[in-house]
Amino acid sequence: MNLQRRSQLRRELRAHAGHWRELVAAHGTPLLVLDPYRVAAQYSLLTEHLRGFRLHYAVKALPHRAVLTVLAASGSGFDVATSAEVDLVRRLGVPMERCIYTHPVKKPADIDHAYASGIRTFVVDNPVEAQKFAGRDSDIEILVRLAFPNPAAKSDLSTKFGTDLTEAELLVKHVVAAGVRFAGFSFHVGSQGSSVTPYRDALRATLELTRHVERTLGLHVSTIDVGGGFPVSYRDDMPYIGAIGDVVDEVLGRHREYTMLAEPGRFVVADCMTLLTSVVGSATRAGRTWHYLDDGLYGSYSNVMTEDVHPPILALSELDGDGDDEDLAPPLEPVTLAGPTCDSVDVVAADYPMPRLAVGDVVVSPTMGAYTSVTASRFNGIAETPIVVATDRV
Ligand SMILES: Cc1ncc(COP(=O)(O)O)c(C=O)c1O
Repeated sequence: MNLQRRSQLRRELRAHAGHWRELVAAHGTPLLVLDPYRVAAQYSLLTEHLRGFRLHYAVKALPHRAVLTVLAASGSGFDVATSAEVDLVRRLGVPMERCIYTHPVKKPADIDHAYASGIRTFVVDNPVEAQKFAGRDSDIEILVRLAFPNPAAKSDLSTKFGTDLTEAELLVKHVVAAGVRFAGFSFHVGSQGSSVTPYRDALRATLELTRHVERTLGLHVSTIDVGGGFPVSYRDDMPYIGAIGDVVDEVLGRHREYTMLAEPGRFVVADCMTLLTSVVGSATRAGRTWHYLDDGLYGSYSNVMTEDVHPPILALSELDGDGDDEDLAPPLEPVTLAGPTCDSVDVVAADYPMPRLAVGDVVVSPTMGAYTSVTASRFNGIAETPIVVATDRV
């Protein structure tokens, strides 16, 4: 993380420091602090920049009730991938036609359950999956998921899901033969990519394919679903969401003939949760300073291990004071920050600049909402980090 980004974060986070100290005094650490207002703000940014889209929040990123409730009240739809996620959304009382079921490979029982719950839009990416819809009700609509490889993304989903473009037309025929409605195409360009080019390339190719199947198969294509993947600035700046909206307008024009869907996960929730963890012990090993925290890779920092995403880390003491004067910022020295488990993999950051830290000092990681607590394990019997919903407004 460069110094400029660190100063920016210090300025942004300073106003929360007092409340975080109160929360640590009340609940201890580790603690995840969830700000539902931020969820609403991110959702509204998406509606502003993805003009005319129907948004379906990817529940998997953070299925916390406070998040789902805010989004439901904002009018968001939901992207679900399992029966458990269907039930979670249904319990909110959301009209289930606002949901799409996007897992390309599912058990027939999961299709039954989603359909009985009111979901009508499903995704397939192979003929075996298309055949699971044969004999089902004709009000089901199917999106065919396309693969667009993107090795530059942190998670390139095309390695596991999506049909090759050359096989897409045949798959559309399988869908039609199953007796359900072919609605259109979906894709996911990979999560946390550093460029908007994959969106441009995928949209162009999808548009070309759409026109091709309309022409050759005489089908009406109603829907294009651009998936998720919208990047978030962790330690480094990433493309602004407006740049992706502009790419959509550039390729499809402002007045589109298609219903446009998106399935944002990370973008909606990454910024809404902050981890407060504290130093449990410190040691010098081979001349380097190590600090051991009470949360780590097998806990809330699971995103570091599963996604190679690196959230910013600051000392809470860096947020003291009210000035912006960087000359007053504490000196930083490279340290290793390790997690609490009794193994050697659990290292959150190495050679990472931190101010002087002592046992009991609190360390702060913002941007900890997406794919963090939800992918954490209970390794070594360590309890999951509690989430408190923040009620302060600064
Ligand atoms: C089908 C599907 N849609 C949407 C998402 C959300 O992606 P992101 O969090 O990158 O926006 C995912 C993530 O795995 C996904 O698999």
